[in-house]
Amino acid sequence: MTVLAINGGTPVRNKPFPSWPQWGNAEKKALGTTLDSGYWGGYPPPSPQACEFEQEFAAYHDSNHAVVLGSGTDALMVALRVAGIGYGDEVIVPALTFIASASCVLLVGATPVFADVDPTTYCIKTTGPGSIEDVTTNRTRGILPVHLGSRMANMSWIEDFAAKKDLVVVEDCAHMHGGAWNGKGVGSHGTFGAFSFQSSKLLTAGEGGLVTTNDAELAEKVRYFINSGRLGPQDTRQHQSLGWSMRMTEFQAALLRSQFRRMINAQAPIREHNKDLLHTRLSDLDGIELLKIDKRETRRSGYAYIFKYLESMHAGVSLHQFIQALCAEGIPCSGSVYEPVYRCELFPLDDTGAPLYQKHLSGEVDYRDIHCPEAERAAGSENVWIFHEVFLGAEQDTLDIADAIEKVVTHLDELRS
Ligand SMILES: Cc1ncc(COP(=O)(O)O)c(C=O)c1O
Repeated sequence: MTVLAINGGTPVRNKPFPSWPQWGNAEKKALGTTLDSGYWGGYPPPSPQACEFEQEFAAYHDSNHAVVLGSGTDALMVALRVAGIGYGDEVIVPALTFIASASCVLLVGATPVFADVDPTTYCIKTTGPGSIEDVTTNRTRGILPVHLGSRMANMSWIEDFAAKKDLVVVEDCAHMHGGAWNGKGVGSHGTFGAFSFQSSKLLTAGEGGLVTTNDAELAEKVRYFINSGRLGPQDTRQHQSLGWSMRMTEFQAALLRSQFRRMINAQAPIREHNKDLLHTRLSDLDGIELLKIDKRETRRSGYAYIFKYLESMHAGVSLHQFIQALCAEGIPCSGSVYEPVYRCELFPLDDTGAPLYQKHLSGEVDYRDIHCPEAERAAGSENVWIFHEVFLGAEQDTLDIADAIEKVVTHLDELRS
């Protein structure tokens, strides 16, 4: 008789899954060559490895320009700042995402306005109650869609809407390196794309970030801003534009060049094949619902495979119990990656419900009143995340994941008792 591992049965899987990050001789050589070159930092620009990487990354993502910088958060914030968004402006962000997608708006002095997520993709909802359309006001200046997990925001709709309303669009691509929507790379649809190279991401140098844009003038402004406001690459005196110091090191850029080739040629094909395999295996399982794959996701990618555990169909067994049981079967997964941002402890509020230390918003906004039901359901009782590195092994690894999910779903009675 089959017994769940959490109740003492034999786990479906005893072997570990592939770990992250992954590297080899190419990365060692790239770092050694940079060390020996003595050119270690991002100053003076143009730094050679960063320049090469920017061009390779921009070309693959169908963007005219790419600029490397310190982190994904830097990328989001600089994009908003350079687009001229500031005090009094509203930027629409999805409720279900990492804190940085909303804190970047506060960091430029503007106001994040939360839109709910589309229950079929968990990406920002475009129409209907709580959607982009619904929360747009005459103070809206921008939209910040996030390509979450493995699904892409509906960039076709967002591009049209932004053009009609004259809005800035910053695509948060921290989960979607290499992806393409409707034949064009992510990050090339909006005014800016923002990428993160933080250590858990699909493409990593430990830390780092990058901005894409098709607008040469905006790209130059980003370069000034991240280089202490210097107006030209070699300009050491004329700090004529306000700026911060967010340059990427040459070690990061050299590592990213090797990792990018590894991602495109070796990792992405295996990862996406295995994610498809899991998707097919789960499609008939009762009590599990899959997120929709849009035909316009023409080059798929993604930081995680997410599916829905339908708590309502399994009365008495919570998402948390399901996750614990799946982990006990040897499958690394999580049900608590993000909370709705307005409920997150990294989004602290003062006693008027305004974000802490944002005095100009006191009395203007009250985030205690915000309610995005789809995001709350996803985070509270539904979403199951399996991270990308787990899909980098053999097909059998993915079949083990599918077997484990099937085992837990078909033996939920054991958890109930
Ligand atoms: C969706 C999303 N946006 C932005 C970021 C910020 O990236 P970074 O950690 O490089 O600042 C992250 C990082 O976790 C993220 O997941």
